Amino acid sequence: MFQTITKSLCVTTVAASRCFCRYPGQYNIRHYCKKTPSRLWVSEALSSSELRENIIIQGWVRSVRAQKANLFLHVTDGSCLQPLQIVASSELNDPSLTFGSAVEVTGVLKRSPHPRQPVELEAHHINVVGKCNPVEFPFKIKDRHSLEYIRQYPHLRCRTNAFGSLLRIRSEAATAIHSYFKKNGFVNIHTPIITSNDCEGAGELFQVEPSGQKPKEDENFFSVPAFLTVSGQLHLEVMSGAFSRVYTFGPTFRAENSQSRRHLAEFYMVEAEVSFTQSLEDLTEVMEDMFKSATEHVLAECSEDVDLFHKYVTPGHRGTLDAMMTTSFPIITYSEAIEILSRSSQKFVFPTDWGCDLQTEHEKYLVNHCGNIPVFVTDYPYDLKPFYARDNQDRPHHTAAAVDLLVPGVGELCGGSLREERLDLLKNRLEQVGLEDAYSWYLDLRQFGSVPHGGFGMGFERFLQCILGVDNIKDVIPFPRFSNSCSL
Ligand code: 4AD
Repeated sequence: MFQTITKSLCVTTVAASRCFCRYPGQYNIRHYCKKTPSRLWVSEALSSSELRENIIIQGWVRSVRAQKANLFLHVTDGSCLQPLQIVASSELNDPSLTFGSAVEVTGVLKRSPHPRQPVELEAHHINVVGKCNPVEFPFKIKDRHSLEYIRQYPHLRCRTNAFGSLLRIRSEAATAIHSYFKKNGFVNIHTPIITSNDCEGAGELFQVEPSGQKPKEDENFFSVPAFLTVSGQLHLEVMSGAFSRVYTFGPTFRAENSQSRRHLAEFYMVEAEVSFTQSLEDLTEVMEDMFKSATEHVLAECSEDVDLFHKYVTPGHRGTLDAMMTTSFPIITYSEAIEILSRSSQKFVFPTDWGCDLQTEHEKYLVNHCGNIPVFVTDYPYDLKPFYARDNQDRPHHTAAAVDLLVPGVGELCGGSLREERLDLLKNRLEQVGLEDAYSWYLDLRQFGSVPHGGFGMGFERFLQCILGVDNIKDVIPFPRFSNSCSL
């Protein structure tokens, strides 16, 4: 049976920042009463146009300035780049109010007399929730720390302005990707993290087995060798047989023994698969449109954060990005690319003969050659591409209908292809590499309502590098994993 409970008393918390009503009886039911301060995000406070009493701000101190009569603090809470200025009587000063300490501040939100900030919080009470020893804290109040420096502190670098901005941009960019696909009729598929296939056939796999047991030969947990996924493509191909436009966006793993500035062992990949394709242009259109639409979204929603990068971290990059956004991406074939490289006076470390893989130095040269804007390279040598790439059946150069998007500063951002939908050709190729049994289910797809289709993958971290101009991929992911490094 329910009882009517009457309000009996009203008490304040120890911090004197909250107020709640207690009710008698065996139930510990509490309701906040009107005296409870309203919690505001710093971003909300900064955009507020009216005077507001009884406000509480929770965050971390960015600066402290004590004058004779007044104390000034800047407090951030991750909601935006700008801090909120707190003004308090110097009686509220406390030695534990230092750079990095966590605070709760209650007071009145007022218009600020200073032209550089619209509002400030006149504090009535300051509660230091978490102290921070400024001598031991690796970040110093007056220093501008480089990305290399803060990378040494993966557990603390989210407290810096630059990495805070990066994380907000990353979050918004992920939203932008999902909203692009939603607007364009793609269905989001959660492709598996653990899989028994090596989609790319490059052998860069992490095997998955229970820990603590030595795997006996031929006795796998899943009865077959299982791996962390290198690509969700084959699972997307399954789904493209029913939905015609599908995508996935999730963690991807490559056991690449690389310390490069554009490779990670764990990264996020955006992958799309489109059915009823007629040519590679059906894919290049989606790649270019997705790139521009997601970038526009980020520039609109995170302008302050992006400006911080373009002004202080990677000055000069904004011009490059603007050029990318206002030009159509040119398309050249691999054979044309080889011709351009062979005619160049630049000495390359790696060979540039027809049939060789394009290396970073080649990709950079081609991007510059095209005016430092993104460029599509199509129709790669057949032998360079995995079994699923569609045979162009051309001669004398034998190519596959594959495409890479190369972008300034990064090189390869997207890789994709039309998929071989012709059963006999696919079967032949799988037989040549001895995979026809392992991929019998894949061959099935070509027998039951198969249609021409294709897709691509875009490295999400490389996308962030490209729009922000960040040189090292380890600076655009919260917790980078690469060979010999898995901190935290
Ligand atoms: O070119 P990749 O290997 O293509 C595939 O995996 C296809 N199966 C995708 C598809 O068609 N659905 O990888 C796609 C993109 C690359 O262009 C690159 O941006 C990124 O993924 N990438 C990496 N990013 C960070 N670290 C690594 N080790 C990466 N390997 C690939």
